[in-house]
Amino acid sequence: MLLEVAIAFGPVPRITWEHREVQLIYFHESEVSNYSTLLLSEDKDVLYVGAREVIFALNSVNIAEKQHELHWKVTEDKRTKCAVKGKSEQTECRNYVRVLQQLNETFLYVCGTNAFQPTCDYLNLISFELGGKNEDGKGRCPFDPAQSYTSVMVDEELYSGTSYNFLGSEPIISRNSHQSPLRTEYAIPWLNEPNFVFTDVIRADQNSTDGEDDKIYFFFTEVSVEYEFVGKLLIPRIARVCKRDQGGLRTLQKKWTSFLKARLICTIPDKNLIFNIINDVFILKSPSLKEPVIYGVFTPQLNNVGLSAVCAYNLSTVEEVFSKGKYMQSATVEQSHTKWVRYNGEIPNPRPGACINNKAGASSYMSSLNLPDKTLQFVKDHPLMDDSVTPTGDRPRLVKRDVKYTQIVVDRVRALNGTIYDVMFISTDQGALHKAISCENGMHIVEETQLFPNFEPVQTLLLSSKKGKRYLYAGSNSGVVQSPVAFCDKYTTCVDCVLARDPYCAWKPLEASCVDILQESEIKRDWIQNIGGDASSCSDKVRENSLQHTFKHGSTAELKCSQKSNLAQVVWKFKDDVLKVESPKYRLLEKALLIFNLSEGDSGVYQCLSEEKVKNKKFSQVLAKHVLELKKIQHATVGPTVAAAMTEGNRDVRKVSAVSTSGSTAQTSTTQIMPVTTARLITKPIGPVLTSAASNTEIFNLIPDAVPEKTMFLKSNDNFLLMFLFLFFFILFLCLLSYNCYKGYLPGQCLKFRSVMLLGKKKTKSDFSDCEQSVKETLVEQGSVSHQNGEQPKPAHDTGYETEPDCGNGQVQPGEPQAFREVKDKPFDVKCELKYADSDAEGD
Ligand SMILES: *[C@@H]1O[C@H](CO)[C@@H](O)[C@H](O)[C@H]1NC(C)=O
Ligand SMILES: *[C@@H]1O[C@H](CO)[C@@H](O)[C@H](O)[C@H]1NC(C)=O
Repeated sequence: MLLEVAIAFGPVPRITWEHREVQLIYFHESEVSNYSTLLLSEDKDVLYVGAREVIFALNSVNIAEKQHELHWKVTEDKRTKCAVKGKSEQTECRNYVRVLQQLNETFLYVCGTNAFQPTCDYLNLISFELGGKNEDGKGRCPFDPAQSYTSVMVDEELYSGTSYNFLGSEPIISRNSHQSPLRTEYAIPWLNEPNFVFTDVIRADQNSTDGEDDKIYFFFTEVSVEYEFVGKLLIPRIARVCKRDQGGLRTLQKKWTSFLKARLICTIPDKNLIFNIINDVFILKSPSLKEPVIYGVFTPQLNNVGLSAVCAYNLSTVEEVFSKGKYMQSATVEQSHTKWVRYNGEIPNPRPGACINNKAGASSYMSSLNLPDKTLQFVKDHPLMDDSVTPTGDRPRLVKRDVKYTQIVVDRVRALNGTIYDVMFISTDQGALHKAISCENGMHIVEETQLFPNFEPVQTLLLSSKKGKRYLYAGSNSGVVQSPVAFCDKYTTCVDCVLARDPYCAWKPLEASCVDILQESEIKRDWIQNIGGDASSCSDKVRENSLQHTFKHGSTAELKCSQKSNLAQVVWKFKDDVLKVESPKYRLLEKALLIFNLSEGDSGVYQCLSEEKVKNKKFSQVLAKHVLELKKIQHATVGPTVAAAMTEGNRDVRKVSAVSTSGSTAQTSTTQIMPVTTARLITKPIGPVLTSAASNTEIFNLIPDAVPEKTMFLKSNDNFLLMFLFLFFFILFLCLLSYNCYKGYLPGQCLKFRSVMLLGKKKTKSDFSDCEQSVKETLVEQGSVSHQNGEQPKPAHDTGYETEPDCGNGQVQPGEPQAFREVKDKPFDVKCELKYADSDAEGD
């Protein structure tokens, strides 16, 4: 049962870092957008960024340091032509850089959409200027910036997957090469509305003697041909071609003879959950790995709950499918309807789609050009494998709910004890980054970092794994962010450092600091790290300093305590017993405990503990200690009516305290044993009207000496306020009285007085519409005066009554009349009772 829930929701990130909480470097230039193509040159320490009409070269150690900038604009003429074809001149008819590939030491190969006329060029890295070759970029770069694209440079030849025409209706996987350019057949069985996400080369084993070829893998989602479905069923695919492919001589001339594709499976079989859209791929290659591992992030096609998954595949599983698997073939049923079924017939020799290796060479097939027609015809008709690629462990590595994963990179880290962890960094469409590891008790999300403050999708993610300089780079529409791979120094205690279960972080007992082990020149034996989360070897000193507070009878105290871990529970102890925070006497806020109606019995020691359970072991640490003490000298005027006002004003209190502590965010955000500096006491507001006005001044620090003075000040302040309010309402009443008298709403004496004054110049108007008008005016003004949660009451001259010359002048906004309470009691509302009822209903 518990396992089910865990799978359905996925692990909770232990720590959530807000954008400002951690040290990230942000690069952005005004007027430049769509930073969607990134290329890292590790040996030069340069990050190249392809944005809209600009290419940047940034220092990869600090991307805020710009080294070069090249503007690559569309000519006026081309833009006009593009607009004539019905595209947006301001957005689509621009040059979006889509290909940035290292050609050699001195040149980058770059392509841009160039107002729907894709163009490629050579960027000289010394002068940082384009060669001006303006090659036709058809097939290497999309026409439409909204269309998918992927490319990789292998031995100075560009392999790309994109669309080949203006409409974007002709998909293509091609090799751009002077000797032998190759491409896919334009046919549905080859590519059916694909959305390309990734491509990379996997080199053949240098030590092997079978002369295997290097292979280029492509990843995309396409519309399925093999499944019957009401609508378009999407299928995630892996396709591959061989580097030595030369195309066929007659059949498949200038086309791939080695193009094969298969379905990637990412499902939870027992829950019938199918993740059929692939969003990104990372191929983990490392000398410490027997074989490369392919990591993919997936989402389901019908994703109303917002699920995402990560599946991993062994390369050998993939190769097995292509080299030994069954093929699919189309069969025509009932005249026109085609169905794809497994092909069980004889397979020609050499095997269709296989790379040319020594074995094929020995049978005199030295090149794809001399492959027999039978083999070529077969692969032309059967590019799709019947066997699918299954993930390692036959299920996703990670399933997470309420998130859409967009990109992934994976790092390999050797922990202190020698165990190797594959750390997954997965970005979301909300600008966040999850860092996850797989450990004995399942997946653990170490942290979630908000990379982009405006919650925009992360479009590109790169990892530099150079020794001592590991960084992540993320590109989005608004800019590029550089982040360290770990935030070890954020953990200030040993328990916190170990409970983080971050393979990058270890605790140095002597220096009492949590450090990134990959940044250290040597590793010592006494450092503490336990990815299982067992922090029992930690011996943090419990800091004994506590905060003293004195309080008055009946007041409310706010004891501060904040902790960062989303997996921990806050427990409050009073005199060493666990406090029952469910009782109405207490209220547990996110970062504090409120105690209402304080009395003698509430004095004593309050401890705030964070308890985190890892594998049946519970680790608790004291986060804060507060001592409450009853203040002996009492002022008789202070009444015990705090609680009532407080329950109403709780939200305000929270808001206020959040504001007032913002200066010390750094301190409160880190989980540390050090107690948080302030406790607050909320004393009684004078009356309901004053609640909000008073709450600003009446929450104050409980520094014992300061209390009496503050109280005195508050009292005189209150009297002043009362006087002021009394005067205010009196003037207001007078104004209303004279106004209504003038308008003729009041009978008797008033009317007489009025007619004398006006000498019969104006007719008495008393129809309902006018009446309503004036009532609404009254409502608006009254509302703003007696507004409960607002600011200080407005001074009388702000009401505008004196200057209002006529009833019809009042501007009434629908929905504006709010809380009016006093109005009903006034004598001048008699005529309008019906209307009142109406507007009351509206107002509510
Ligand atoms: C470019 O960025 C803008 C926001 O700055 C976004 O609205 C637009 O969709 C982006 N275009 C592409 C093609 O990514
Ligand atoms: C994938 O490879 C790893 C080690 O390289 C191995 O332990 C695992 O069994 C393999 N899984 C499959 C499904 O082949």
